[in-house]
Amino acid sequence: MTDTNATDASTSAYAAAYRQSITDPDAFWLDVAKDIDWTTPPTQAVDGTEAPFYKWFPDGQLNTSYNAIDRHVAAGRGDQPAYIWDSAVTGTKETITYSQLQEQVAEFAGALAAEGVGKGDRVVIYMPMVPRAAIAMLACARLGAVHSVVFGGFAAPELAIRIDDARPKVIVTSHGGIEPTRKVPYFPMVSKALELTNHTPASVIVAPRHTEFPDETFPETPGTTWSYWDDVVVVSKPADPVPVAATDPLYILYTSGTTGLPKGVVRDNGGHAVALAWSMWNIYGVRPGDVWWTASDVGWVVGHSYIVYAPLLVGATSIIYEGKPVGTPDAGAFWRVASEHKATALFTAPTAVRAIRKEDPRGELVSEYDLTALRTLFCAGERLDPDTYQWATDKLGVPVVDNWWQTETGWPIASNMRGLEPMPIKAGSPTVPVPGYALVVLDGQGNEVPAGEDGNLAIRLPMAPGTLAGLWNDDERFLTSYMSTFAGYYTTGDGGYIDEDGYVFVMGRTDDVINVAGHRLSTGSMEAVIAKHPAVAEAAVIGVRDELKGQRPVGYVVLKAGEVRDPEELRAELVKMVRDEIGAVATFRDCTVVQGLPKTRSGKILRKTMRQIADGQTDVAVPSTIEDPAVLDALAPYLRGEK
Ligand code: COA
Ligand code: AMP
Repeated sequence: MTDTNATDASTSAYAAAYRQSITDPDAFWLDVAKDIDWTTPPTQAVDGTEAPFYKWFPDGQLNTSYNAIDRHVAAGRGDQPAYIWDSAVTGTKETITYSQLQEQVAEFAGALAAEGVGKGDRVVIYMPMVPRAAIAMLACARLGAVHSVVFGGFAAPELAIRIDDARPKVIVTSHGGIEPTRKVPYFPMVSKALELTNHTPASVIVAPRHTEFPDETFPETPGTTWSYWDDVVVVSKPADPVPVAATDPLYILYTSGTTGLPKGVVRDNGGHAVALAWSMWNIYGVRPGDVWWTASDVGWVVGHSYIVYAPLLVGATSIIYEGKPVGTPDAGAFWRVASEHKATALFTAPTAVRAIRKEDPRGELVSEYDLTALRTLFCAGERLDPDTYQWATDKLGVPVVDNWWQTETGWPIASNMRGLEPMPIKAGSPTVPVPGYALVVLDGQGNEVPAGEDGNLAIRLPMAPGTLAGLWNDDERFLTSYMSTFAGYYTTGDGGYIDEDGYVFVMGRTDDVINVAGHRLSTGSMEAVIAKHPAVAEAAVIGVRDELKGQRPVGYVVLKAGEVRDPEELRAELVKMVRDEIGAVATFRDCTVVQGLPKTRSGKILRKTMRQIADGQTDVAVPSTIEDPAVLDALAPYLRGEK
């Protein structure tokens, strides 16, 4: 163990909070809810009458945008920066105070309203890391509209799937994003997506980047009109915050499931605001006026929660960074930004730290910057491996805190509670379950296993406020994906154990979701793309261990009888197909032609067994249901990279 401030877990502030949150969630969360301004304060915390569809603060009303902005202006924080934008790829910086943000969000909300957007209407946001991405989200929240942000690294077909499912009135986009080595124009993506969809949004509003994209002109999209942000703002009236029910949806965020179709995670307004504000104080130790930096993207849940909403809900300043940990221009970029804006905390994915370490193993660039303001480095998105933890701890000299969560939960399930009560850190563990989450480890039959034993990480219902209220338009999938494996529990899809000190260890997914550079991807959706190739009979994509990115997808394809293909040409074709259909973010680069794929007698491909062999595991237990062990024997040398 390292770190200080060890506490006796049974008598600690954490233990007391945790106990009450589980035994008396109503009292615990109603008290916490006082940190939020309600137009109608709630009298009940959780309503389980339609369990497992729990409702948080069912009789409360509020506005999330008001809580993030207006109330701080009213309390005298108007001149404090709300967002600091630092774009390493364009060399631009901009500070937006709470007062300026209030004005800009109200103006854009007015423009959306003029386009016919009101309470409950959806708005798809496909934007790079510019302040207007956050402004568009907050403007939706101001109107009670529901935003659905799509990450810029997804290609047109993925955008189309989300448009068809969310059925937005408006799409908010930009000329494009900027990657270190290329520009990514968005207009072709949006117009292609609109060709592919059945749903036709009324309008597309563009936050321009004329300097970076001087030659782009609006595409022709039948039924959808295109306008520039500033032009729609100028002709509309600023909009006031609209009170909504705590249970009304704030956003839909699509995330990868085990099939090709993404799941639309629905977040409510009330539980979200209460949980995020509480997390800033108690998990992250952030106070009003602190400068907080989450180096992620608004397209992911980490960006939603900890770039856009949570810092503002507690009156802190949030840095919006457009750039990478390396290459924009070097491995000192994070330290430059943290030092320049005096960030008190940095939150990123372990893969970013590994990328920095690879280029600057001795951490020489760290010492070039004044990081005295930095109190903590938080990591999430994938397991913080002990090596990376140790390197960051040594180089930065501040606590390095892992926290485990998912798009579905919206905020940490397990963390070291830096605000409530800092605890000793164990490398490789995100410490303890966060209050509100009755986390257990279950065996395949749903029995709790003893401390230290591996199993399925599951959460006894109800979960904490702010966790998913359901899946958009798909109650059935909500039940089958999360609620039916173990009755009365939410299945996280992660495996791991809890040790004798109550520390949680999250060891990886138990399903076919993979995690590449902190990005959650579905092997199923890659397989679906590959299977469309005319020469391919069947395919399996697995996530294999990768030193930098944690995992990377690798495909194994079986050709149709009689097909003869040059392996390199076929690989290039399949890589292009995945890039065009899913996007560059899939990072699909490796693909091998094999004779057969190992299956169970019922025809299920043994992906887990394949993954274990590819990862070099020596004690792989081959399921007794395997149809033909010889197929696996023939494939094994390919999986081990020997062929
Ligand atoms: N828009 C368009 N394309 C994007 C994109 C975006 N917003 N984000 C990534 N891509 C592209 C990249 O340009 C790259 O394309 P390429 O194949 O043409 O090179 C591809 O998607 C893969 O990107 P990435 O996984 O980011 O790999 P990388 O090699 O460019 O960078 C890291 C590696 C580790 C530096 C980078 O992955 C990183 O910063 N990871 C941190 C992730 C993170 O913050 N996750 C959030 C969860 S907390
Ligand atoms: P996402 O929904 O994109 O946030 O991805 C969630 C998944 O990422 C989880 O189910 C885990 O598999 C993984 N994950 C996120 N944070 C951690 C962490 N701190 N430790 C281990 N795995 C993590």
